[in-house]
Amino acid sequence: MLTFSFANGDRLPALGLGTWKAAPGAVYTAVLEALSIGYRHIDCAPIYQNEAEVGKALTKAFAAGQVDRQELWLTSKLWNGSHGPEQVQPALKKSLTDLGVDYIDLYLIHWPVIFKSGVTYPRRADDYLPFSIDSLSQTWQALEACKTAGLVRHIGVCNFSVAKLRALQSEAGIRPEMNQVELHPYLQQNDMLNFCRDNGILVTAYSPLGSGDRPAALKKAEEPILLDNPTVVRIAEKHGCTAAQVLLAWALARKTAAIPKSVNPERLQQNLSAAELVIDEQDMADIAALDRGYRFVDGAFFTGKGSPYTVAGIWDERRD
Ligand code: A2P
Repeated sequence: MLTFSFANGDRLPALGLGTWKAAPGAVYTAVLEALSIGYRHIDCAPIYQNEAEVGKALTKAFAAGQVDRQELWLTSKLWNGSHGPEQVQPALKKSLTDLGVDYIDLYLIHWPVIFKSGVTYPRRADDYLPFSIDSLSQTWQALEACKTAGLVRHIGVCNFSVAKLRALQSEAGIRPEMNQVELHPYLQQNDMLNFCRDNGILVTAYSPLGSGDRPAALKKAEEPILLDNPTVVRIAEKHGCTAAQVLLAWALARKTAAIPKSVNPERLQQNLSAAELVIDEQDMADIAALDRGYRFVDGAFFTGKGSPYTVAGIWDERRD
């Protein structure tokens, strides 16, 4: 398996299993199946409401000797309602307990969005706290302390714009080592990739297949279906593989890790095998032309009535 190296030499398996939207009841078997066919990177978060079930599968796999903890890469994330510095270690420890492990390989601030302490889903204006780099830096210091305490091996962020990465970096003792962001041919984010490469930040692509199974409330009308894109389908036909495999091979060719979600054994295998697929320069050029700056996960769910957040503000883009 292709890996990407952190500064200390630790290696992240490039193709991981996404668990967002993997339903309770399905994620246990999906994780066991994934581990049995060779996945060694599982991406988790407490907000996915399934970490305890992922943990049951891990405990079973460890007990059966199917995989050693040291050969498995586990990522988890800090939710928006746990940004208070005193809340960070308890939130992390809850993930450790749920996952049944004593350290996490990579711990990420899930969003540059801050809720009042303890809020899971905001319902009222005062469930939100305004964004500030100062506040985020204090959260970050608490992550640094978790790293120093050996509870996590690496720390980073998700959904951070270049502007926010810059601001956090300038305050940080330990610099962010990862930015996990939405990446696929419709949202290629080349400036982001260049910035991260120049600053020693690894990048993970989430929703690499276009996240077609998001709940209706999180979907816009008339969303494009990435897996049906004619260029992607044509390249798949050329290589005798599937559209999903082309999307994943493209992500890995750009030196980004990718975490496709699947709970289906055949698709789990298909996605893992994509790590062996090589697409050529012409394919890369054809896919480069598909960029349209389109976000499936645009953060609009944080911009409800009374919220101080806007889509443009989250991404530091001129939108809205
Ligand atoms: P399923 O879990 O039934 O396999 P993303 O990772 O971009 O969020 O996309 C996840 C969606 O893509 C899910 O609906 C998942 O369904 C589906 N999916 C995962 N792997 C494949 C594949 N190889 N081919 C087609 N659809 C896939």
